[in-house]
Amino acid sequence: MRILVVGRGGREHAICWALRKSPKVQELYCAPGNGGIAEVAECVPINEDQFDDIAQFAIDHAIDLVVIGPDDPLALGIVDHLEAKGLQVFGPRANAAIIEGSKVFTKELLRKYNIPTAAYESFSDYDAALAYLRQQRAPIVIKADGLAAGKGVIVAQTMEEAERALHDIMVAKVFGESGNQVVIEEFLTGQEMSILSFVDGEVVRPMVPAQDHKPVFDNDQGPNTGGMGTYTPLPHIPASVIEEAIETIVKPTAKAMVAEGRPFRGVLFAGLMITPDGPKTIEFNARFGDPETQVVLPRLKTDLLDIFLAAVNGRLGQMEIEWSDEAAVCVILASGGYPGSYPKGLPIEGLPDVQDALVFHAGTAKREDGSVVTNGGRVLGVTALGASIAEARAKAYAEADKIRFEGKHYRTDIAKKALV
Ligand code: AMP
Ligand code: GLY
Repeated sequence: MRILVVGRGGREHAICWALRKSPKVQELYCAPGNGGIAEVAECVPINEDQFDDIAQFAIDHAIDLVVIGPDDPLALGIVDHLEAKGLQVFGPRANAAIIEGSKVFTKELLRKYNIPTAAYESFSDYDAALAYLRQQRAPIVIKADGLAAGKGVIVAQTMEEAERALHDIMVAKVFGESGNQVVIEEFLTGQEMSILSFVDGEVVRPMVPAQDHKPVFDNDQGPNTGGMGTYTPLPHIPASVIEEAIETIVKPTAKAMVAEGRPFRGVLFAGLMITPDGPKTIEFNARFGDPETQVVLPRLKTDLLDIFLAAVNGRLGQMEIEWSDEAAVCVILASGGYPGSYPKGLPIEGLPDVQDALVFHAGTAKREDGSVVTNGGRVLGVTALGASIAEARAKAYAEADKIRFEGKHYRTDIAKKALV
């Protein structure tokens, strides 16, 4: 079969890497891809928002399935657009991708269907929001409604910080139109957990759970990033809690989307907090997580293409999906300055020395002479597998140390919580 993956990050590298293992995959393309994806797929210079060009490429190359990686094109209706041209696509349509694209929509859905989440109110009027905020106590969470490149959530430790965030979002419009509405939400405490599931309507097939590390520095210090590292499984979280999250949050949400006339097909990503009152929803994403995918897919034993095809053909419920018992740890190597501004085009050395880990490229470019240079904030994800988290973690760090580029930085405490 001929497959086209849309996206350019570590997530798409992991998806392409997993698809490459399928004996059914004859041609694999990625638009636009990156320096690492080029090793497993043919990269085509079409951006994620060029829907017409993506459709034309897929038609011209007789693509059997298009797989969408990132959130922005999903929210903008890439799936609807490609389906209208007769293409088969794995990913949610716009009316379902709204579960990530609008936090107000999702909070209202969760409230309507009694699905556990943080208490909240939403506002489109700044003065009303400010009046409500002033009746609350810090810490408190302020969220821009729309997509904001992962930066639209402010966990405010003081009321001053909360008021500033509200002003930035609604008045200064630092996230643009995404700030037309806000959610003001109760601060939840506990362990975070990501449960990604293959979903087709009411059929939910959970993947192995993972944990991300969002703040840029060790011990969760510093500003939030797209994610600095992940691991799976979560040995310190009881299986019953994971089961409870699937039964009380993920499955009811998929069902609620069907009831709303917005059946979800694709990967539904539940960001959860395990609070003293049980698991609660922090957010939903309408796609694979990045860098969750870089630890989850290496544990997948079933052919990923078979799962995608089952989902688009209404057979997901009958799929046998198998996972390995191994642990996986992914350490992200970031550019100096990230998540603020950072340089690009710096040479990366040591990649051929990595023997015992998978290196998923997040922000790299391949030069004509074959050398690989930095081209993004998160540059590489080094994923190691092992019999235990401790083993996978030691390997991931040992291999990550072999890679060099100017300004390289990473967290040294990925998966540390799971060692106790
Ligand atoms: P999001 O962009 O929605 O994933 O949020 C970014 C991060 O903010 C999450 O990973 C959590 O660490 C934190 N966060 C979001 N909502 C809450 C909440 N209600 N309580 C505590 N932390 C939160
Ligand atoms: N790692 C979090 C996300 O993909 O949104």
